[in-house]
Amino acid sequence: MTVELRPPVEVGNTPVVKLADYSTEKLEVFAKLEFLNPFGSLKDRPALWLLREALEQQRTSGTQKVIVEPSSGNTGIALAGLGKRLGMKVSIIVPEAASPRTKEIIRSLGAELLETPDDLCPRVGPGADQAISLANSLVTSQPERYHMPNQYENDANFMSHYSTTAPEIWSQTGGRITHFVAGVGTGGTLTGVGSYIKERKENARIIAVQPEKRHRIQGLRNLEVSAMPALLKRRASVIDEWLTVSDRDSFAEVARLARSTDILVGPSSGAVLAGLRQLSLKSGVVTVVFGDDGSKYKELYRELGIFGESELDRLLAQRRDRAYTV
Ligand SMILES: Cc1ncc(COP(=O)(O)O)c(C=O)c1O
Repeated sequence: MTVELRPPVEVGNTPVVKLADYSTEKLEVFAKLEFLNPFGSLKDRPALWLLREALEQQRTSGTQKVIVEPSSGNTGIALAGLGKRLGMKVSIIVPEAASPRTKEIIRSLGAELLETPDDLCPRVGPGADQAISLANSLVTSQPERYHMPNQYENDANFMSHYSTTAPEIWSQTGGRITHFVAGVGTGGTLTGVGSYIKERKENARIIAVQPEKRHRIQGLRNLEVSAMPALLKRRASVIDEWLTVSDRDSFAEVARLARSTDILVGPSSGAVLAGLRQLSLKSGVVTVVFGDDGSKYKELYRELGIFGESELDRLLAQRRDRAYTV
């Protein structure tokens, strides 16, 4: 039995839009706009499923623990926002390199924020990552106080995409999808959506995009530097093709998309578009995932100089200003 959430929480059911500049007569490219989730990213989905599981455990055991989770940013924001709505205490551990706006949002949502001197995305593997090590040591030393949902291992992450993102994409493309292209973080999106689609269409192609080493793509990981998360390893066989994209190409796509559509996406969406370009597809029905929008990355975009000053201000001004309040 799943616990009923009070107050009710709405996550998912995000729209897809056709990207005219990336499509041709024979090739249709759709983008799933995950930044329209209430806390601004695709991570609202796993966060809700992880919290629901934690709530079930807490209600069964009659305890109330602090949720502690390492995150490159978006899971942290989603856990903080949804946790506050559900009356849960949340503590998020992020790498210092996460964007300043990411940290500000987590704090403003009332969560405790701890920082560790890691690379942008928490690495996985014994001793490799201080954010994960700190979360583990809090849980081990104070098991009565802390609960770590662990998005890198917990199947609730996979299930959130298998049960919501995937059927939405399947019905939004009328079952015509031939290629699914998404970035690699925990692997929850790729394995959840990939498994669902493969069960219905064996020859559909599932394509994983990873950034280069020492990248600046928040949320994604390079698997030569970081070990493969257990969640991804479990079902990595659904992935047909792995692509590596450069920061240069990824940020160029962020700028190109903004100029052709006025949609200002986050770096991981640029990476996915750079991957799509590498594929040089001539035909098919493709869905790509836009994991978050560009509003958290304005300092980075300014530093990289990918937009003119007034261009970036104009793009930011027309984005619905996400209040990040509950
Ligand atoms: C913006 C963004 N895109 C993509 C991903 C990767 O998603 P997943 O963890 O499901 O592999 C993340 C993960 O944090 C993210 O924040």
